[in-house]
Amino acid sequence: MPEGLSENIGYLESSQTVAISQEAKRRRAAGEDILDLGVGEPDFPTPAAAARAGVEAINQGMTRYPPNAGIPELRTAVAANLSRLSDGRAVNPDDILISTGAKQSLFNTCFALFGPHDKVLIPAPAWVSYPQMVRLARAEPVLVPGSPEWGMKVGVEDLERRVDKLTKGLIINSPCNPTGSVYTESELRSLAEWAHGHGIWLISDEIYRMISFGSGPAASLLNLEDELLERAVVIYGASKAYAMTGWRIGAALGPTRLIKAMAALQSHTTSGACHPAQWAAAEAFGNETVAGDVERMVQSFRGRRDYLVERFRTTLPGVEFVEPHGAFYFFFRIDTLIGEGGSQRFCQELIDQAGVALVPGVAFGDDRWVRLSYAVSDDDLKKALDRIIPFIEQLSSARAAYA
Ligand SMILES: Cc1ncc(COP(=O)(O)O)c(C=O)c1O
Repeated sequence: MPEGLSENIGYLESSQTVAISQEAKRRRAAGEDILDLGVGEPDFPTPAAAARAGVEAINQGMTRYPPNAGIPELRTAVAANLSRLSDGRAVNPDDILISTGAKQSLFNTCFALFGPHDKVLIPAPAWVSYPQMVRLARAEPVLVPGSPEWGMKVGVEDLERRVDKLTKGLIINSPCNPTGSVYTESELRSLAEWAHGHGIWLISDEIYRMISFGSGPAASLLNLEDELLERAVVIYGASKAYAMTGWRIGAALGPTRLIKAMAALQSHTTSGACHPAQWAAAEAFGNETVAGDVERMVQSFRGRRDYLVERFRTTLPGVEFVEPHGAFYFFFRIDTLIGEGGSQRFCQELIDQAGVALVPGVAFGDDRWVRLSYAVSDDDLKKALDRIIPFIEQLSSARAAYA
């Protein structure tokens, strides 16, 4: 740890997904022909009605401090949106806290719930920030590896093997970054029943819920009975499905007492999320035209998913991958193609030799895989595959020659 820094951030590692994206940007700026499939944000513009509402809010002087927990219009819009997606389930706007991106919603939740000596189970591969946030709260993240035969998802038996009396939380994420796997309602129910039975807090990151390739949005904790949600927090937000990453609006829904504590924490850190951005998000969650925009973006992601899966199946039959059912990520296995150094070496060689940036699986807790994001134009996706496929074929034949 560099001298002078506190123990608070002693464990902190900077985000490897951000690092690869920065390297891709740097090389592009230097004139290199790099295709960046490491990105974690939609390639679409913010829906026009939402953007207009943000501009309008600025013009109307909504530029002062917002209410710390969020403007009532946004809390109500999020509650109504979640209720609509969950068969009309009652959602109380007072139990929703608006924050600066789902990232802050998750941080608030972890910091409010966990502390020294607590353990938090995190199915792996997992989004890079969960273990770091748990560590910032001075608690211990415990990665629970998912099964490759089951889209890298975990079941109750996997959790049962890792739980002990210090376990206080479980963080799940469906649709999942980095795998694109989606838990069905009955799978979610069994995880929620398990957590309830052990008195463990369940945090369900549902930021990609609308980007689901089944019929309708992905299953949510909000489809389950009230009793199972006594110690549960649902994380939601505008960033991904609404193409609003830069507006930084996230939301947490949980028991009143916890949401109040998280609001108190936020009152001393950010004083609430960007005021005009909250008006833009309120429009996004409630506007019918925006709902149509979201549906069109999801259709595009679905088309790209189909194209990608088809090309991998037909041209690289030996390469294992997780079939994505949501989000915009594709996770494929490279440990049989490359020796020592695993996913980082694969990504370094790919960017150096073929000019394509992907994210090494080690960033998500599994060095045997890499993540490709198809939140890029159809054209760039095709071009990237035209480079990735021969690169992999070359690795395979080199390995076969050595065998
Ligand atoms: C699984 C997951 N949760 C949360 C976030 C953070 O979302 P936001 O941009 O709203 O902070 C991301 C962003 O990459 C993510 O992939």
